[in-house]
Amino acid sequence: MSETSPHEPDEPGLERLRRQDTRLDHYIDRYADRAHGMTASAIRALFAVANRPEVVSLAGGMPNITDLPLDVVGSLLNDLVLTDGRRAMQYGSGQGEPAIREAISEVMKLENISAHPDDVMVSVGSQQGLDLLTRIFCNPGDVVVCEAPSYVGALGVFRSYQCEVVHVAMDEKGLNPSALADALKALRRAGRTVKFLYTIPNYHNPAGITQSLDRRLELLHLAERADLLVVEDNPYGLLGFDGEPIPALRSLNEEHVIYLGSFSKTFAPGFRVGWVLAPHAVREKLVLAQEAATLCPPVFSQFAVAAYLANHDWRGQIKVFREMYRERRDAMITGLTAHMPAGTTWTYPEGGFFVWLTLPAGIDSHAMLPRAVTARVAYVPGTAFYADGFGSRHMRLSYCFPTPDRIIEGTRRLGEVLEYEARMLEIFGTAVEPESGRLAFGPREAPGPNQT
Ligand SMILES: Cc1ncc(COP(=O)(O)O)c(C=O)c1O
Repeated sequence: MSETSPHEPDEPGLERLRRQDTRLDHYIDRYADRAHGMTASAIRALFAVANRPEVVSLAGGMPNITDLPLDVVGSLLNDLVLTDGRRAMQYGSGQGEPAIREAISEVMKLENISAHPDDVMVSVGSQQGLDLLTRIFCNPGDVVVCEAPSYVGALGVFRSYQCEVVHVAMDEKGLNPSALADALKALRRAGRTVKFLYTIPNYHNPAGITQSLDRRLELLHLAERADLLVVEDNPYGLLGFDGEPIPALRSLNEEHVIYLGSFSKTFAPGFRVGWVLAPHAVREKLVLAQEAATLCPPVFSQFAVAAYLANHDWRGQIKVFREMYRERRDAMITGLTAHMPAGTTWTYPEGGFFVWLTLPAGIDSHAMLPRAVTARVAYVPGTAFYADGFGSRHMRLSYCFPTPDRIIEGTRRLGEVLEYEARMLEIFGTAVEPESGRLAFGPREAPGPNQT
């Protein structure tokens, strides 16, 4: 191709993506451009080791569903097959089954969202909702704004559609609207249009931060002024440990906010039932995209989740999950307080699954991972949560899956590895660049100091 259109990533960018692929793949020259960005992360292989029982994995974000009453779920599924099996095992509507969309509207009321079931589209987990949204909105080279850091699965979607991700700083009150305003101004000056902001206001993955109400109002004010579309991803919203949830962005603004929800964390991820709540016109496009992708989301799963919601005390079950995660969060904070070396800071999550750790200057979490796994503890290096290579001074620790005792043991092992790294650093110095010198739109340090 002789010329590069505004919608195509520039050739050097594409070349860089091609080089990430391997020449051992005989099909390499046949792939579409978008497939070159889809590469397995280098840490995937390490995670095969990290999943061994002797390793304490603070890496994965798997919901802990051991407290789910399997006898109850089993008998619901049995009844479903016997009483309504032929409908449940048939093709269904591209938008999703009416019964589950009605139930979803009820669930969203817990976050002050009032929505008609017609405005809901069921998706294969909220992950697919994000994929379809990106599919209908983004051309290659379009800008998506994300928090710094952001959910690794979202960055993967944006990469697969060849979007350019621009990160905007967070602090202990969440995404900073004035940093966002600066970024939007800079992008406008550069002639770039932002397709949407992707944000996780509650119990952020990976930062463990919740955006304050005043910040939410400021953000929505800015969205209105700048006509910015906001994609609110809220899988953890009902898993807060203290007090009432802060109103969802969607409950404060219907026109500029598209909302993604999920049953993965409040029930079980294996059913793969999530949803998108969107303005009418967007919802129609989404359903067309859904039909192209899957014909319809899995009907059996939708019937199963609807049966669970109708016949089980799901609100009580969420309370059980909350207590279990709170105990694990407390264990994580106790372990970090006892075992982290001086100069390490971390966030204090009020819900959800994750803590974001900032290491003493000069320690590189990515380089350190093999040594940590050898010491039988695993985490996710901060670089996984940035589209642009930042984050090496950070790591995500999850407390959702291991037992409290294992979490504390994991932090003890991590503390030992960090002490060793700090000693090596004193002796040999470091190759890690300070992050703050390379910023495009604002500071990207850890979102908030250690608040314990
Ligand atoms: C922030 C965030 N968004 C979306 C997802 C995807 O969830 P689902 O299972 O609903 O596809 C996850 C899963 O971990 C997540 O953490």
